[in-house]
Amino acid sequence: MYSVLQNIHSYFAYLVLFALLVGAFSAFFGYSGNRPFQDRDRKVALIGLIASHIQLVLGLILYFVSPLGAPNLSGATMKDSDSRLYALEHPLINILAIVLITIGYSRAKRLKIDRKRFSSIFVMYGLGLILILSRIPWGAWFD
Ligand code: HEM
Repeated sequence: MYSVLQNIHSYFAYLVLFALLVGAFSAFFGYSGNRPFQDRDRKVALIGLIASHIQLVLGLILYFVSPLGAPNLSGATMKDSDSRLYALEHPLINILAIVLITIGYSRAKRLKIDRKRFSSIFVMYGLGLILILSRIPWGAWFD
């Protein structure tokens, strides 16, 4: 169960990062090109939103079955940067990033001005991506 989940979470990360990058760039080009916001634009952003939510669910389950997650929470963990990354920073910062991405998508759905809809997506997806990339365990991922 653990190693299957670990593998899915590891490979699904490529898809999440790619979908969020496409969502952010496509919204940026829509904004800078002053295009009308179409249903196609909403769907491109929706793919990034769904991918990040699936990764959130996988991550939450993994957090409780991985020896690097909740079972490893202790005072000593906080003193070791590698352990702290898995047990605290990676989960917390990624949850925050997915909250921002969700706000960006929902605001874009509600807003009436097309440029604001695009900017809501590219700013929030962009911030979310920066947060996610800042807390990826790069060494373990490319091992
Ligand atoms: C968009 C969000 C996320 C991305 C892109 C992501 C990506 C990754 C990557 C690339 C790894 C390293 C995998 C490897 O060693 O091959 C990892 C590990 C891990 N992630 Fe995430 N993650 C995300 C969200 C989360 C969340 C929200 C949680 C928990 C609440 C979480 C919990 C974990 C845990 C516990 C590990 C260590 C698993 C282990 O090796 O035992 N992740 N994640």
